[in-house]
Amino acid sequence: MTIELVPQKSGPQISKYIYGQFSEHLGNGIYGSLYVGKNSKIPNVNGMRSDVVNALKKIHVPVLRWPGGLFADTYHWVDGIGPMDTRKKIVNTNWGDVTENNHFGTHEYFELLHQLGADAYINANIGSGTVQEMAEWVEYMTMPGESPMANLRRKNGRQDPWRVKFFGIGNESWGGGGNMRPEYYSDVYRQYQTFMPQYDKDHPIYKVACGPNEDDYNWTDTVMKYAGKYLDGISLHFYTLPKGTWGQNKGDATDFPESEWDSTMTRAKHMDELITRHSTIMDKYDPEKRVNLIVDEWGTWFDVEKGTNPGFLHQQNTIRDAMVAAINLNIFQKHADRVYMANIAQMVNVLQSMILTKGDKMIKTPTYYVFDMYQKHMDAEFVEGVGEVPENVTYAASQKDGKLTISICNYDAHDSKDVNFVGIKPFKAIDSAKILTANKLDAHNTFDDPDEVVEKDFSGATLNDEGLSMDLPSKSVVTITVK
Ligand code: AHR
Repeated sequence: MTIELVPQKSGPQISKYIYGQFSEHLGNGIYGSLYVGKNSKIPNVNGMRSDVVNALKKIHVPVLRWPGGLFADTYHWVDGIGPMDTRKKIVNTNWGDVTENNHFGTHEYFELLHQLGADAYINANIGSGTVQEMAEWVEYMTMPGESPMANLRRKNGRQDPWRVKFFGIGNESWGGGGNMRPEYYSDVYRQYQTFMPQYDKDHPIYKVACGPNEDDYNWTDTVMKYAGKYLDGISLHFYTLPKGTWGQNKGDATDFPESEWDSTMTRAKHMDELITRHSTIMDKYDPEKRVNLIVDEWGTWFDVEKGTNPGFLHQQNTIRDAMVAAINLNIFQKHADRVYMANIAQMVNVLQSMILTKGDKMIKTPTYYVFDMYQKHMDAEFVEGVGEVPENVTYAASQKDGKLTISICNYDAHDSKDVNFVGIKPFKAIDSAKILTANKLDAHNTFDDPDEVVEKDFSGATLNDEGLSMDLPSKSVVTITVK
């Protein structure tokens, strides 16, 4: 089948932030995996685990959302500053009732960002915290001059303010973040944002309001109506559940029938409809598209791995997850005019992660390799395509620095697909071509076999006067750059 690309037509910029990540104080998502502490036997720099940080640096994580999630609305930031031995130990009531020693706090988060080269996306506590507490946290982090909180920051060893790029005011406020009605939340949001200080006039903090759960269109409508002019972005949460239902029978991460492969793909594609419909509602109040949709929680959610703590949301990651990642990233790219940031849940050891760790070992997941291949689209210009797309295939194209990159996913469980891209005459040679594929639906990496599913060079594409043609194996993601 033939798809005509139109690189001559100028498209929106694909924000690098749609390749963003999320790490919560949840299970092994931070402790033991990102943060091991300075005294750990596991090699680290200032407490940050070196093997994990080095792997993440290769995919250029642009932004990291923290400290939650549900945890954010129970988190009191003052518990996580000052000498380690004086930090308050609390119970993480959302995630397994385990003890949280607050050793990973504000200073450690910014150290991790520094090592990753990522920007900050902090989620405030508006569920059980106060307006003053939120305002003082922003003061602590960003006030350059003399002030009580800036002085406290200096006492704790940090002279200069940090830069907070994004700030979330509310997480799932319709549910675990306060069970609020959208009308009530809109007023709470307006109040909190009023007292959020902006000390760095050249770099104002970007404000994200809590948006809808999945298809709660009334939430979007109400928050846009009452609070739209006070916010920069509104979030959307949507997870890919194989059976589409919550509870203890969501489906297994590795041991699943083919029908669940298919239903997972169908569910992942639903993201397109959600973004389209929420964005149409936003258009009513914001036709200029000043306000962005921020998909700050997405990814697969399966039953937890057998034998692990149910509160830790630990799951394996297969070639099926890689398909879900590619489908979603292609959708975000297509909606680049509205979607400015997305944060996959979650970066390490939790839900659809990039990396799994066990003791001092780590493995990269199939999802990691999709993020690695898709980096070429970061901050590139979206390129439109016209023509019929083969069944079970999705693609996205972009151009940057005189090169055109196309990412194509064939999520068919059995059949390979022939695809031909035309309209790309100015480009004369293949610059690079990578593929991620596997021959089993549940292929994945393990600590004994860490390279079962890895990105490889792809030789199945040809570029000539007729266009760029390729034969895509089933269950594959391919990224090709032409120059
Ligand atoms: O990502 C896990 C949880 O999912 C988050 O804490 C919460 O916001 C969502 O329900």
